Amino acid sequence: MIDIHCHILPGVDDGAKDLAEAVAMARIAYEDGIRDIVVTPHFNSVYMTTADTMRRKLDELRTELDRQRVAIRLHPGNELRIESKAFVERHAARGSFAYLGTPAKFLLMEERWTDYDPDTPEIVARLLDAGVTPVIAHPERHFFFRENPELLPTLIEQGIWTQVSADSLVGNFGAEAREYGRKLILDGHAHTLATDAHNVTRRPNLSAGMAVFEELAGAGARAELEVRMRSILEA
Ligand SMILES: [Fe+2]
Repeated sequence: MIDIHCHILPGVDDGAKDLAEAVAMARIAYEDGIRDIVVTPHFNSVYMTTADTMRRKLDELRTELDRQRVAIRLHPGNELRIESKAFVERHAARGSFAYLGTPAKFLLMEERWTDYDPDTPEIVARLLDAGVTPVIAHPERHFFFRENPELLPTLIEQGIWTQVSADSLVGNFGAEAREYGRKLILDGHAHTLATDAHNVTRRPNLSAGMAVFEELAGAGARAELEVRMRSILEA
């Protein structure tokens, strides 16, 4: 399996606090059946992990995983928050944040926790025009998506993909996130699943979420999901 959303890089945001914890997370991921992790440190107004820092830390962790023989492949990434349209545009122009994987054809992007950014469709349109597909992080955890049932389908219609968190599906973020996450699967609106792991407690477990996906959507849909996720790294 591939995890496209994971705060495994040590000492850059509220994820792994040091190299030892990052290696421990990689071991948990490996045991769970994950073989590829896209490292996605926060890029927002609080934690601004630039692409340069991300790449340096990625190399450091990759070297340590090799040394300890943990067979996880790491890929570059960031989790960009839409602080505002100006924030996204300014940092896109400077190349401050990284896209997902080396093909760099996908961008993990999250809404603010407080409110939906009404400029989202415009930001999405510009990315799509540039050949980049935005992957919206954990929409099931945002109240405005749950309360405005047309909001997310409209963005999907426009061309975004969604990333549903495994922890939501098993109930770790409460009943509302669990139910909406399951509804997205049933509606065919869960394009990818990921862990959004931060440490060894909020751990990189994907298999339980995949099992929920398969139970709700069937084995064929799960196979399609895995092909779709692989395409992010091989686009
Ligand atoms: Fe995250």
